[in-house]
Amino acid sequence: MITVENLTKFVPSATSAAPVLREVSFAVGSGSLFGLLGPSGAGKSALTKLLGLQDRPDAGLIRVDDVDTGRLDHRSLRELRSRFSTVDPGFVLRPERTVAGNIATPLEQLGVDGPQRRDIVAELLDLVGLTRGAAQHPGELNEGQRRRVALARALAVSPSVLLVDDPTAGLDADEAGGVLAALDRANAELGVTVLLATSDADVVRKVCDGVAVLSDDGALVETGTVFELLSDQDSHFAGTQLPPVDTNGTELSRYDSVADVVLIGHATVPTLLSEAGHQMGVEVQTLAGGVTRAGETPVARYRVGLRGERADLAVSWLSEHSGIVRPVRRTARVAAVSELVARETRELAGVAA
Ligand SMILES: Nc1ncnc2c1ncn2[C@@H]1O[C@H](COP(=O)(O)OP(=O)(O)OP(=O)(O)O)[C@@H](O)[C@H]1O
Ligand SMILES: [Mg+2]
Repeated sequence: MITVENLTKFVPSATSAAPVLREVSFAVGSGSLFGLLGPSGAGKSALTKLLGLQDRPDAGLIRVDDVDTGRLDHRSLRELRSRFSTVDPGFVLRPERTVAGNIATPLEQLGVDGPQRRDIVAELLDLVGLTRGAAQHPGELNEGQRRRVALARALAVSPSVLLVDDPTAGLDADEAGGVLAALDRANAELGVTVLLATSDADVVRKVCDGVAVLSDDGALVETGTVFELLSDQDSHFAGTQLPPVDTNGTELSRYDSVADVVLIGHATVPTLLSEAGHQMGVEVQTLAGGVTRAGETPVARYRVGLRGERADLAVSWLSEHSGIVRPVRRTARVAAVSELVARETRELAGVAA
């Protein structure tokens, strides 16, 4: 477990010391593939350096398995750092060595013997999908393949934590997919905790299980599992990643009730809406939205219009059966009751005060 508490980092500029990270707090579970998401300049690279223990914060702290890394002596810090491996955007491969040779380099430095070294390199070549390219040289590879070599080399030292800074930046969809597949396999098969800095929210939705979202001025916007954030339609992440539900031009007053509904999972996405209609005897119509995926899991958001006596009951039924519901328009009757309840609550609060 890695916990970040009120982490603050300043970068001195000519005129002032401007904060790059502002009291950022979040937690990363062991074995997680965790995204550090934010626009350019948000402080992702600064955060990656801090998390990789290559830099020290100006305030706040980083705990690794409950140990405050700021209190470690030189030797303990070096030991801990050896469990972390980083691939930063400026990585350099050795052009005169083959792909296999590049991956073997850290093992040679550690004095790992020949047969064991070959086994580890073969396993990593397979993991990053470069078995057939083992004898090629970096100059013969495309950028996506070069990044996969750098990943394999970083994994050769069997780190518990792998930090990758912007691994898909500037790649086409195919190459990016190859890099993400390699990260996914490293996480799933080697059990390494992966911290992935990216400005691409799609990358987080496709491969991450958790995320910390940073604003352009280095503050934490939100953090949680990808499903937690997708379940909250008001979250920043859900706003960019759930299918849009614009119904401009559709006359919503033609429906007795209108709601935005998020559905998650193979069992729910294809069936829950029609089931609600069936159970409550109302007509359920999809007005906008669609299906996307988080990892392998289907995630849908629809704006639905419901017609019938029991339209509001059907909406309640949906939220009782794992639909995540945000009302857009309710029947006049329910709206009147809600207003009454709100007014009484305000009056009661007034009495209490
Ligand atoms: N050495 C430095 N000196 C001055 N300012 C810096 C330095 N390093 C980073 N900054 C500033 O700190 C802020 C955060 O930088 P950082 O590189 O961590 O952002 P980032 O999220 O990684 O951005 P990108 O997506 O472009 O890589 C930026 O405003 C940047 O200009
Ligand atoms: Mg960066």
